[in-house]
Amino acid sequence: MKKHFFVAITNEKNEFSVISENAFLPKGWKKISDIGDLETCISFLQNTWENLGNNGRCPVSFPIHGVDYTRLEINPLQKELLRLKRLLWIRPPYGDSAWLISNYKDVRSILKDHRFSRQQCPFHNESRLTPHPLDTSIMGMDQPDHTRIRSVLDSVFNVKTSMDLKGKIEKSAHELVDVLETNSQADLVEDFVMPFSGITICELMGVPFEDRTRFRVWLDSFSSTTLLDADQVAKNMEAMHKYMAELIEIKRKNLGNDLISGLTKANEEGKLSDRELIELITVLLIAGHDTVSAQLMISLFVILSDTELTRQLKDNPSLSTNAVKELLRYIPVDAYVTFARYAKEDVLMDDGTLIKKGEPVLPSIISANQDPEVFEEPESLDLNRKKNPHLMLGAGIHNCPGGFLGMIEIEIGICTLFKRLSKLSLAISPEDIKFREGLQVRSIHQLPVNLN
Ligand code: HEM
Repeated sequence: MKKHFFVAITNEKNEFSVISENAFLPKGWKKISDIGDLETCISFLQNTWENLGNNGRCPVSFPIHGVDYTRLEINPLQKELLRLKRLLWIRPPYGDSAWLISNYKDVRSILKDHRFSRQQCPFHNESRLTPHPLDTSIMGMDQPDHTRIRSVLDSVFNVKTSMDLKGKIEKSAHELVDVLETNSQADLVEDFVMPFSGITICELMGVPFEDRTRFRVWLDSFSSTTLLDADQVAKNMEAMHKYMAELIEIKRKNLGNDLISGLTKANEEGKLSDRELIELITVLLIAGHDTVSAQLMISLFVILSDTELTRQLKDNPSLSTNAVKELLRYIPVDAYVTFARYAKEDVLMDDGTLIKKGEPVLPSIISANQDPEVFEEPESLDLNRKKNPHLMLGAGIHNCPGGFLGMIEIEIGICTLFKRLSKLSLAISPEDIKFREGLQVRSIHQLPVNLN
């Protein structure tokens, strides 16, 4: 794995960080060291920190607020931490300083380790990328509350209920392609991915499809780092909870087969409270729409940017489960890290770092998925990859309940497009595709394509 070199930087608030030797200096920051390896730069920052009269570890600001990821690269700092198999004490844009966890073994073990708590986050200033700590429903709970609610969810949303939707998902993919076929050009983001993912989540949950335009704005609120300000986020999240509360009342009068009806019934049977019900369906709607659409649009971008991959899919438009898994591993849909956890007791990590009781960790699933100890040639996309224990659907008690559905959607979306549109190609150069900024989920603005 290539070694990266860095420069130590500071700003007028006496915050400290490092940037890659070739990176642009972020606005408001200045260089304070020569180019060196990461350990040298971190020691330099520690000395500077102590010389200013500070005690303890110097937190390295990461990601530097307002500086966004570029395209599909994971940050050079994260790559170097992987190479060094090292934890780093960072200052995230908001909340407490935390341990950044990069390598596969540590990320996986923390996701599965009950000594790390999500439920304790509200008792701290949660380490995070978003202006407000997010209401994450079951994602914010530990056992036994988590077990209680997750078992209710699993009883109404599982492999069988996802398989039952397959026919409807295929139908909506075909209907969208019917419209695409009447044109010579299209934007696959607006003309395919967003309505496709929207129809599926509405069908699953029993949300009227006409309301889709309303919740598009709400999705960005959940994911916004710098796109929206804190007040806008709070206002939108309140509007979303109000909408969900009204929808639940409508469902109560006439329960159907959808997910909201199933969860509302569980609420009536006393298995989850009114508040738990609203928070859970809000998170399901956001998580189910946002991640799948981001993953699908970037998968299409990656395939269409590569002539060999495009040819392979046109010749044989079926996509194996292995290929879908590899797209999940390869595409860093999270911009940097997943949700923080707080240590409930002292935990000694393999690199000798002692994570003290009460200290937070920020696991980076996207780094773990590029760990060369686990994945052969991690930076290349290999649709035939055999050994692929990626973590893109999580691990441990919070593993993704929608992973199976997400994989069905991605497979059907890609296969239907390539099966039906034999001339499908990018209409602009891959370098001109613009990534959206200020969000913690990576996505693109548009994917212009030629259809004939
Ligand atoms: C390809 C698409 C998807 C990806 C990449 C994805 C990724 C993830 C990941 C990584 C986690 C765990 C995060 C952590 O432990 O920090 C998670 C949890 C979760 N996901 Fe997904 N997800 C996807 C699709 C979906 C869908 C379709 C739904 C629902 C309709 C969904 C609902 C949830 C929920 C509710 C949780 C929290 C589970 C718990 O706390 O027990 N996800 N997802």
